[in-house]
Amino acid sequence: MIEDIDAILKELEQIQNEAELSEFHKSYLSKTGKLTMLMAGLKDLLPEQRAEAGKRFNELKRAVEVQFFQKQAILRARAVNEKLKNDPLIDITVPEIKKMEGSLHPITYLTRRIAEICSSMGFIVVDGNEVVTEFENFDAVNIPFDHPARDMQDTFWLTNGKLLKTQTSAMQNEILKKYGPVVSAIFPGRCYRNEATDASHEFSFFQCEGMMVGKDISIANLIYVMKTLLTEVYGREIEVRLRPGFFPFVEPGFELDASCPFCHGNGCSVCKHSGWIEFGGCGMIHSNVLSKADIDPNEYQGFAFGFGLTRMAMTQYAANDVRLFNSGNLEFLRGIKR
Ligand code: DAH
Repeated sequence: MIEDIDAILKELEQIQNEAELSEFHKSYLSKTGKLTMLMAGLKDLLPEQRAEAGKRFNELKRAVEVQFFQKQAILRARAVNEKLKNDPLIDITVPEIKKMEGSLHPITYLTRRIAEICSSMGFIVVDGNEVVTEFENFDAVNIPFDHPARDMQDTFWLTNGKLLKTQTSAMQNEILKKYGPVVSAIFPGRCYRNEATDASHEFSFFQCEGMMVGKDISIANLIYVMKTLLTEVYGREIEVRLRPGFFPFVEPGFELDASCPFCHGNGCSVCKHSGWIEFGGCGMIHSNVLSKADIDPNEYQGFAFGFGLTRMAMTQYAANDVRLFNSGNLEFLRGIKR
């Protein structure tokens, strides 16, 4: 039997193409092949010889199979190479394409980081709609039909009367109704405006909004949350300051500045040498906004804040053109943070 196996291995070694190899498989390894037949012959041995012989036979059969599969791989690779060499449409001299690893879009990365930080402070994260009603985008946040603030937020209107939201504030009403009157939520999302695009204007950009509503919520809570959020995002101690600011949905309303995270407030090109960067708007939620969400403003109150995620990413990724975020510029999108 051993001599038989040696002869078979030699035959296998001499095979030069896939057709011969397939023939070999048929005559030795297939169900009716010689090796399979030899195996069947083992049953004629004496019982005491059978186990030992069976074991030995299996080892030898395995050796043939291993060699067979190696040969098959070699012949197949050779055939493919031949084909490639002769194919006029494939130029094998073109240098290999460098392996590229995927990466998160800067906005995705930042959104996830902010969600992580706010979740650790007890906020839920709500995924905002992009298509909202006129009521949600404007009336519910205290911007009635004839309010001049509407002029600054023209957008894309759909034929069914709905619109692409111009601000994440458009989610306030739905969230307050669904989770209120005691709720802490952030709702990052894509917003749209009817803009002529240039380096600092895009028709589509991202904002992040947050609210905390309950009993005894005050501006002190707002300042604490903002300071913690910014300190965690930038990985260094950030100071915040509030300046009076007007937004229809908050009263009192503020513009929120953060001490410049890039120069520690000493002055640099990012903060235009003022030591502060404008971060976003915030304030105590207007009683009309609470009432429109069926929350009694005499019993509950809360703060809201909103800021441009895209704008924040622009400073972090040192981007001087907002359009880069919607571009296919991989060098930028794979981003190095400041
Ligand atoms: N919605 C405002 C905007 O688009 C941002 C904003 C300001 C949100 C003040 C707020 C806020 O919640 O309190 O510019």
